[in-house]
Amino acid sequence: MNIKDTIDKSRLPQHVAIIMDGNGRWAKERGKLRVFGHKNGVAAVRDTVEGAVEIGIKYLTLYAFSTENWNRPKLEVSALMELLVNTINKETKTLMDNGVKLNAIGDLKQLPPKCHKQLHEAMNKTAGNSNSTLTLALSYSARWEITEAARQLANQVQLGLINPGDIDENLFAQHLTMPDIPDPELLIRTSGEQRISNYLLWQLAYSELYFTDKMWPEFRRNDLFEAVYAYQKRERRFGRTSEQLVP
Ligand code: IPE
Ligand code: IPE
Ligand code: MG
Repeated sequence: MNIKDTIDKSRLPQHVAIIMDGNGRWAKERGKLRVFGHKNGVAAVRDTVEGAVEIGIKYLTLYAFSTENWNRPKLEVSALMELLVNTINKETKTLMDNGVKLNAIGDLKQLPPKCHKQLHEAMNKTAGNSNSTLTLALSYSARWEITEAARQLANQVQLGLINPGDIDENLFAQHLTMPDIPDPELLIRTSGEQRISNYLLWQLAYSELYFTDKMWPEFRRNDLFEAVYAYQKRERRFGRTSEQLVP
C-alpha cells in the first residue's frame, strides 16, 4: 500500500515544522561544493510543499537560514542569499498553482535588500491563497524571537498600555512571530542530527520530534508522509496518563 493511503486524514497535524539539514554533507559526499547541495535542496522544498498541500497540512514552516548561519564563510552566505532570491522568484508560480500563501519569520531586516524585496513581492502576490501557509524562517533564531517579544511587552508596560500582571502565556505568544498559527504538532529534522538549533523554542514545547537520516536534497513528499504516519502512531499525553486519554 502507498504510504499516503496509510495516513488518517482525520488526525493530520495542522502544522509541520522542518529543519532542512544536510545540504553541505550531501554535496561533499558527491565531491561537490556545499552550494551544490543548497541548489539541490530546492527540489526537496518544492516536493515537500506540494506533498503538504496534497494531504491537507495547513501550515508548513521551514528553517531556511538561522541567525547563526550568518557566521558561515562569506561565499556560502552570499550564494545562499542569491539562491533565495532566485528560488522565491521562480517558485512563486508553484505557490500560486497550489494555493499556498507565503509568510516569513525572522530578523528580515538583515537580509540583503534584493532578497527582502523579492520576499515581500511573493508574499503580496500569494496573500489571497488559502490552501495552506508556507512560512520561511530566515535570519531566524528562537532566542531572538523570544527576546523581541519580551522587549515589546516591556515597552507596552512602560507606556502604561498593560500591567505586568496582564502578561500570561497567551499574551506572550501573541508577540511572537506566528501569533495566528497553531504550534507545530510535528517537527522533522533531516540529516541525522538530533538537535533543535535555536528553532521555535517556544512553539515546540509539546511537538513530536521526528529525526531522519535522509539528507535534505533527497527528502521528498513520501518522506513527509512517512513522518506524518509515524506521528499518528505516537501517544500525546500532555502530562496526563494514558488512561486519562481514553474517551
Ligand atoms: C542546511 O544544510 C541548510 C542551511 C543551514 C542553510 P547545511 O548547509 O547545514 O548542511 P550540513 O548540515 O553542513 O550538511
Ligand atoms: C539549522 O541547521 C539551521 C537551518 C537548517 C537553516 P544548521 O546546520 O545551521 O545547524 P547546526 O549548526 O548543525 O546546529
Ligand atoms: Mg547543517
